[in-house]
Amino acid sequence: MRYSTLRIKQNAVVYKKLLKIDRRGKESMIFYFTATGNSRFVADRIAAATGDQTKDITECMKSGQFTIVLAEGENLGFVTPVYYYGIPVIFTDFLSRLDVSPNNDLYTYVVLNCGGTTGNAERYIRRHIRIDAVFGIKTVDNYVPMYKTASESEVTKQLDAAELETDKIVSFISSKTPGVYNPVAGRLSSLITSVAYPLYTNGRKTKKFRVNDQCTGCKLCGDICPRHIIDCTHGKPQWRETRCEICLACLHRCPASAIEYGKSAGRGQYVNPRVEW
Ligand SMILES: Cc1cc2nc3c(=O)[nH]c(=O)nc-3n(C[C@H](O)[C@H](O)[C@H](O)COP(=O)(O)O)c2cc1C
Ligand code: SF4
Ligand code: SF4
Repeated sequence: MRYSTLRIKQNAVVYKKLLKIDRRGKESMIFYFTATGNSRFVADRIAAATGDQTKDITECMKSGQFTIVLAEGENLGFVTPVYYYGIPVIFTDFLSRLDVSPNNDLYTYVVLNCGGTTGNAERYIRRHIRIDAVFGIKTVDNYVPMYKTASESEVTKQLDAAELETDKIVSFISSKTPGVYNPVAGRLSSLITSVAYPLYTNGRKTKKFRVNDQCTGCKLCGDICPRHIIDCTHGKPQWRETRCEICLACLHRCPASAIEYGKSAGRGQYVNPRVEW
């Protein structure tokens, strides 16, 4: 074998190793996606109690790291916000690429984190991965195109309640209990999910974003966008794609309150105050 060919092959092996998360003999994994911190807050609290490791799926999407090797009997968790009674498109993309081994002898669970009602969001996770347990939890609603942000005292109350709920979820996870524990699924969850979720997947239009004169051109929105579609090279952000996640990270985390979406004007911003970014 020629030296250069050998080198390319060796590099390919090293590269493949880098793109694989091998956690045998270490802690179990919790994958999460978050825009305003609530899912990370839940994932971190579970991890603090179980000793498991958390991983932001946007890092995997960026690095192409989709292979995960765990020891038999370990836990594999997913924490996602609920969007239109379904899950963010980026989470579906992540799950469709995820390659987990062993795929039978793990305790797999999902925590659906919502502002009010989860519907049957787990349906879209089960399409990609076998799930042993589903948990639903209400934290704080960040969907400002429809609702006003909660006041500081309401946020405190809601997060205190979410901490207690997370601790209940931890007890199920610790005993590897299978089944569905979701007090916030809502009524007619399957039916409503079937109607609502396509509105999200077929909508998600970036043309509804507006940037007001308060924008300082700090570029933070461009840096934090999980899809990397905000172009700040000319100061004010511009959206490079016609569709995005509508996760609203850009809107809520803008330090100048300069981004609006649809009817969000005057409805405030929200970032989980118990998460350090
Ligand atoms: C596009 C979008 C759609 C949402 N749809 C729902 C929903 O169907 N039901 C619900 O209870 N909350 C909904 N929410 C609220 C979020 O699920 C909730 O605020 C969640 O805690 C946000 O998590 P994060 O802080 O980790 O991003 C939606 C939020 C967004 C941005
Ligand atoms: S984060 Fe806000 S202030 Fe900074 S560039 Fe984006 S819109 Fe402008
Ligand atoms: S543009 Fe804003 S709402 Fe869309 S994916 Fe990026 S951060 Fe989320």
